Amino acid sequence: MDSEKAKKSKASVRNRADAIKPFQCKNLIAVIEDPHDIKNIGTVIRNANALGVEKVYIVDTRGALPDDWQDMRERKSLSKTSVSAVKWTFVKRFDSTKNCLDHLEKNGFKSIVTSPHVKGKTNVFLHEGNYKQHTKLAVWFGNERRGISEMAVESSEMCVAIPMFGMIESLNLGTSSGIVLYEVTKQRREYQSQYRRSRNKGKRSEPLPTEMPHEEKTV
Ligand SMILES: C[S@@+](CC[C@H](N)C(=O)[O-])C[C@H]1O[C@@H](n2cnc3c(N)ncnc32)[C@H](O)[C@@H]1O
Repeated sequence: MDSEKAKKSKASVRNRADAIKPFQCKNLIAVIEDPHDIKNIGTVIRNANALGVEKVYIVDTRGALPDDWQDMRERKSLSKTSVSAVKWTFVKRFDSTKNCLDHLEKNGFKSIVTSPHVKGKTNVFLHEGNYKQHTKLAVWFGNERRGISEMAVESSEMCVAIPMFGMIESLNLGTSSGIVLYEVTKQRREYQSQYRRSRNKGKRSEPLPTEMPHEEKTV
């Protein structure tokens, strides 16, 4: 790429980064618990990035991923499956569910889990849930075969299910992350548009837009 082209491309990336900033959902984390398929991991990171989720945490008990985000960004398999979203969305790995839960709790996050099955004390269908009540929220997705762990369920405020109408038991992990995070980010963007970041600061005099103008949608 000649230097003029490189400059233009850098500027367009910067413009895009500035344009999406107000639509990002602060203090929202997607957690994937012990995922095995790299395509699913890439898809969740891609969905998180596209929908404006701030971070992705991965419980990686097999030690399949690098510890450091910088190293993840350079891992070809992750870059390919996430269509480079791993470059833009912060990803943190944990050795165990407990370490991840402890880290979230220490930082004031509440967890909710997702499952096609009824789990834990409070169960809601996706469209019934209120995802604005906790300032800091972590949304957990389970392993492809085993689903979400008991430990994560027990530490969560509620279990969210996407209603199912077919013969099969569950949706694919990557697919369900897209559906759930769409609803969660939509609600949280609506909230952010009306209230200032810190709850004490109260309602905005003018709500912020919740959608990007059409012309901004393509790079
Ligand atoms: C392939 S599913 C796991 C199926 C597993 N047999 C089970 O019992 O949960 C992988 C993950 O996708 C999410 N998922 C799949 N279908 C879902 C649904 N209908 N509602 C909510 N989450 C779902 C959950 O996070 C689940 O742990």
